[in-house]
Amino acid sequence: MSEQKIRFDDGAGYEQMMGKWSRLAGDVFLDWLQAPAEKHWVDIGCGNGAFTELLIERCAPSAVSGIDPSEGQLAYARERPGCRLAVFQQGDAMSLPYAGGSFDAAVMALVIFFVPDPAKGVAEMSRVVKPGGLVSAYAWDMLGGGFPLAAIQAQMRVMGHIPMLPPSPEVSRKQALHETWVAAGLKAVETTEIKVQRTFDDFENYWQIAMVGSSVGPTIKALPAPDYEALKTSVQQGLEHGSKGGRIVVHARANAVRGFVPN
Ligand SMILES: C[S@@+](CC[C@H](N)C(=O)[O-])C[C@H]1O[C@@H](n2cnc3c(N)ncnc32)[C@H](O)[C@@H]1O
Repeated sequence: MSEQKIRFDDGAGYEQMMGKWSRLAGDVFLDWLQAPAEKHWVDIGCGNGAFTELLIERCAPSAVSGIDPSEGQLAYARERPGCRLAVFQQGDAMSLPYAGGSFDAAVMALVIFFVPDPAKGVAEMSRVVKPGGLVSAYAWDMLGGGFPLAAIQAQMRVMGHIPMLPPSPEVSRKQALHETWVAAGLKAVETTEIKVQRTFDDFENYWQIAMVGSSVGPTIKALPAPDYEALKTSVQQGLEHGSKGGRIVVHARANAVRGFVPN
């Protein structure tokens, strides 16, 4: 793993790249969750509000608190018309600034692998949710090739460039999520797999959006020009193989988990 860290300081850039992916996966996640309406939610690692907006639209919550360490992401979330119900504040998943039993439900959307101590993050979610309440998450299967930019990461590795990874990628495995939830004392723990796809007009459209994101963009843009072009060409050849009419269809896969705080 490289020494660099994936940064989230551009809410608008995040929206183009990962915000759209988050909503695609979030929709499938919420179909699976079947959460009741009129509940008080906490959205941990809410980022720029991409999933928060979907949660409000789909689950009709009575209230939502969103928390994230990045002010750049939160500034974007606060301006989203679809997030007016939510109250956003800065903070860390491993030390939530809420009293025990404050919420009916907690969610981490594409966040748990960014938490340096995932077990602590899940313990905090369990603490702030009432007995009988829901603790849930979904995460790209980072080590199983589920990340939307996995094709670029794979080609980077082939060419000797090390892609940045979040600090806790191993927790995104389905079995690891299950074990982490059970170890936190949560009950009726279940997991599922979420498969989504996104279509780009052409390869250039796909590449430009990938470069905006904070995961592979900074490393690739820092490459010497010949290496940059060689990498781009290899990724293009791989993705265009089998695609029709210039459009690029990219597949991604996440794992989801839910459990309940014991009564
Ligand atoms: C991939 S984004 C997901 C954002 C949003 N939940 C979504 O679905 O679009 C990951 C988010 O986790 C946040 N994050 C990173 N470390 C965190 C931590 N220790 N506690 C809470 N959030 C964290 C980042 O700032 C970023 O906004």
